[in-house]
Amino acid sequence: MNFPFFPTEASKVAVQVDHLYFALLCLSALTMIMVFGPMIYFLFKYRRGNKADRRPVRFSENTIEITWTLIPAILFIGLFAWGADVYWIIERPPAEAMEINVVGKQWMWKIEHPEGNREINELHVPLGRNVKLILASQDVIHSFFLPEFRIKQDVVPGRYVELWFKAEKLGTFHLFCSEYCGTHHSAMHGSVIVMTPDDYQKWLTQGAPGPTMVQEGEKLFREYGCSGCHVNSTAVRAPPLEGIFGHPVPLQTGQIVTADEGYIRDSILLPAKDIVAGYTNDMPSFQGHISEENLMKLVAYIRSIANGMPQQPPAGGWK
Ligand code: CUA
Repeated sequence: MNFPFFPTEASKVAVQVDHLYFALLCLSALTMIMVFGPMIYFLFKYRRGNKADRRPVRFSENTIEITWTLIPAILFIGLFAWGADVYWIIERPPAEAMEINVVGKQWMWKIEHPEGNREINELHVPLGRNVKLILASQDVIHSFFLPEFRIKQDVVPGRYVELWFKAEKLGTFHLFCSEYCGTHHSAMHGSVIVMTPDDYQKWLTQGAPGPTMVQEGEKLFREYGCSGCHVNSTAVRAPPLEGIFGHPVPLQTGQIVTADEGYIRDSILLPAKDIVAGYTNDMPSFQGHISEENLMKLVAYIRSIANGMPQQPPAGGWK
């Protein structure tokens, strides 16, 4: 669709969103014409002094009631189903997506690739690859908005949220914060740079990344003293973290939760919240002592030992 009122469609989802939006526009316009058309016509036909047949008209009541209820109901429920389908696609990142971390803070977007590359207000991604963003906010509510990809996600402090897209066009696209977040909200914007997979690989290596996120996380794991209690050989009893990520964890309350990014994050900041069955809470809270970026690195590390062994991103990055 080449309609100059819309930004470029840089992904398949963008096309799908536009089709839905266009259908909504058409149906709304049609409904408006069906309501206002007869209204204006009757205004003139039955205006005072005009000779018109004003005797009461009798329609079959059931027919007219059923018709005007059923047709719009089908149309609008259809739109709902269509919208739900697109929403479903947007809200569920594909399992094999490569992951990039994003932290919103007053007033910039800080981005870190698993390979260790960091950037501010710029997001480099390869063409044709599913990209899953894991977003967190360091301070207030921001909103991560990519108009050319027709996706937007509020980034709320205190939790991780996800967003995914697959770029289908090379080029530079807009990146906005679309939630008023303070004085320089309007300056909190940047760009998404879509590169060919080869160029992206080159960019990753040229960025001369030092340690990967996992390596940095491992370093923090020692620096913050986590290893003092959480490594198997120690005397203090703390739940071991090898093999925990992505698996169910039984809690003292009898609940069972899955150890995902959010759970790890909460356990670092609010250790008293979910106490693992069989343990007491002896861990201090790290709330206020650790930045969102460092939290993401710690999560990346704990995730990397999900199989008992630290993992590095494979050559070519996480698929
Ligand atoms: Cu961040 Cu507006």
